[in-house]
Amino acid sequence: MTVTEKPSTAATFDLVSPSSGQVIAQVPDQTVQDARNAVERSVKAYASWRQTSVYERSVLLRRFNDLMLRDVDEIARLIASEMGKPITEAAGEVKYAASFLEWYAEEAKRVYGTVVPSQNVHKQLIVTHEPVGPVYAVTPWNFPAAMATRKIGPALAAGCTIILKAAEQSPLTALKMAELWTEAGGPADTFIVLTTSDPVPTTKVMMDDARIRKITFTGSTEVGRLLAQQAAPTLKRVSLELGGHAPYLIFDDADLDQAVADVLACKFRNAGQTCVCVNRVYVQRGVAEEFTRKLSEAAARLKVGDPLDASTQIGPLVDQQGLDKVKRHVEDALSKGATAVTGGEATGGLYFAPTVLSQITPDMLIMQEETFGPVAPVIAFDTEEEAVAAANNTEFGLAAYLWTTNLARAFRVSAALEYGIIGLNDPIPSTAQAPFGGVKQSGYGREGGLWGIQEYLSVKYLSINVK
Ligand code: SIN
Repeated sequence: MTVTEKPSTAATFDLVSPSSGQVIAQVPDQTVQDARNAVERSVKAYASWRQTSVYERSVLLRRFNDLMLRDVDEIARLIASEMGKPITEAAGEVKYAASFLEWYAEEAKRVYGTVVPSQNVHKQLIVTHEPVGPVYAVTPWNFPAAMATRKIGPALAAGCTIILKAAEQSPLTALKMAELWTEAGGPADTFIVLTTSDPVPTTKVMMDDARIRKITFTGSTEVGRLLAQQAAPTLKRVSLELGGHAPYLIFDDADLDQAVADVLACKFRNAGQTCVCVNRVYVQRGVAEEFTRKLSEAAARLKVGDPLDASTQIGPLVDQQGLDKVKRHVEDALSKGATAVTGGEATGGLYFAPTVLSQITPDMLIMQEETFGPVAPVIAFDTEEEAVAAANNTEFGLAAYLWTTNLARAFRVSAALEYGIIGLNDPIPSTAQAPFGGVKQSGYGREGGLWGIQEYLSVKYLSINVK
């Protein structure tokens, strides 16, 4: 294994597989000194990288995409081993991750400037874009490849250099991607990976250094707030993709079987460890019982097992902390009167049975905090107004979903939901071409599409007096 920032010490930390509990790798435990070295190298590389043509950057990103696709199976295996995502789903993540590189290989060429008509006939007003500068990226373990490429792709396309602090639970995928960037011909130090068991002091180095011009983070709202504070003294650009608490509104005009299949896909992908996974399923009363029964039957059929087995649909939770949170939410709900229609308990190791809960009340923890596990609470509602009010009754605003065949309702409810992403009869709206990001305490900034690259660009205005 290679590390792009050569460690200043030989120290390593153990990487433990969430499914077997075995140590699967020794990962370089990089220090504050390594973080300082990374900044020096990134700043130096930026001076020449920013001068390259977008066509040059585009070719390199396209090659990077091709190499990711060449190595889908190997990267999927790394993901499955280090964080427990079932390998078939992990292969899907690798392709999704590569699609951000492909998209930004193209989008690099579409960063147009503007000539603005002036009130003075003797003036030309020209607006262009420049890279924001060296970037520090902090990515989570739940999508070790995709959450990284949707930062690396636009940053490199825009002409920024990037230092990626990989999640402690999933460093192998990040290290592999850095190798592929080098193989693609990416210039040294344009993309550096830092691995550390103690991210707080290394992150402080990045946050204190004014030469790091941007922080981009995907993770919890709590950490996002801290990073925003730390970014203030050096006025870094900040993008934060934070927690969610997604509602799914199923109206009584829905295609019920399809709605069940969609909620299943939305809730149980990655064992529920996805920021945009549904956390609260609201079903109109007339169809609530039938929906709950069908969802429970489908959830009970999900194949739980070894993430390296191609037929597995649900793997383990990522670590003990993750499992404890799921247990706490379910125990709290059961103690307050909820019923586990299926599942409801840990099944050994870091596994938790796919669970559907009914008889839910608003005071339950699961209705307030992101569970990040395979648990679907189902709540009956009577009116559209009641459902929208309940859906919006949260500090989060990342993704919300609805299922209806009524066109007027579809537009009305989509407009009323206070969320950055709406899935209308669509449980998986995430895609490289579209903007991903939230409102309220789910953060700010957008990743993906033509919006994603703007986060890595500064506007430059040139006023020319031709008198
Ligand atoms: C996330 O969990 O933050 C991302 C999931 C996705 O891209 O759909």
